[in-house]
Amino acid sequence: MSSHINNILKQAITTFTCRPDLFCSNLHLLISLLDRTTAEDVNLHPQFTTDSLWNQPGKAPVSCIDIYEDNNITMGIFIIKPGGKLPLHNHPEMHGLIKVIAGKVTITSYSINTEKTVEIDSRSLKSDFLPALSYTHKKILTAELTSSEIVDTSSNTCLLDPNNKNLHEILTVDGPAAFLDILAPPYGTLVPDNGPRLCSYYSILSQVCPNIYRLQENKSPSWYWTDAFPYTGPELQVQ
Ligand SMILES: [Fe+2]
Repeated sequence: MSSHINNILKQAITTFTCRPDLFCSNLHLLISLLDRTTAEDVNLHPQFTTDSLWNQPGKAPVSCIDIYEDNNITMGIFIIKPGGKLPLHNHPEMHGLIKVIAGKVTITSYSINTEKTVEIDSRSLKSDFLPALSYTHKKILTAELTSSEIVDTSSNTCLLDPNNKNLHEILTVDGPAAFLDILAPPYGTLVPDNGPRLCSYYSILSQVCPNIYRLQENKSPSWYWTDAFPYTGPELQVQ
């Protein structure tokens, strides 16, 4: 019998390769599978939830376990150290699903191309509020703070899409935390007419009005780096 994580993988592949008219129902199925996912389903090693691993000198603040990647989806596990975070970053023209499987995190999410951000950008361009160059080079982004929520193992799956909640920062609460992450398409694949799909990092430049911010693209912060651990969960078959 196929394992739960294998069923998730198959459903993820189906969801992100199916006909457009079947996408919503497949996404719904994928989310309902993810909602029932635990650390045991991927055999997450208990070392990740103990302090001794994270106290090792030189230990990366975030560990990644790659589970699967093809041209359409990537599936993996992120584990963040106590008090650590994933810096604010984007997912260009991607969908993302997050299911927390250990610990607790605060996910702060921003949306782009909302009614408010589009209106503010068109007003700013007219009044030349920001140099047009910054927009052209996409170094400054207008984004709407959509939510800041505490998510733990009892919470449902968090979903982001090309506009809604497309940027987020993920901060651990009370100890280390781990989440299963599905991204479609993967980083590195081509965005039509726009080159490879890169992960960009941002900081808040200014607040324009309640919940609307200008975000400045930055290099990856020096305090953020990752190391990799092998996947040790059930064997996966996609055929
Ligand atoms: Fe992310």
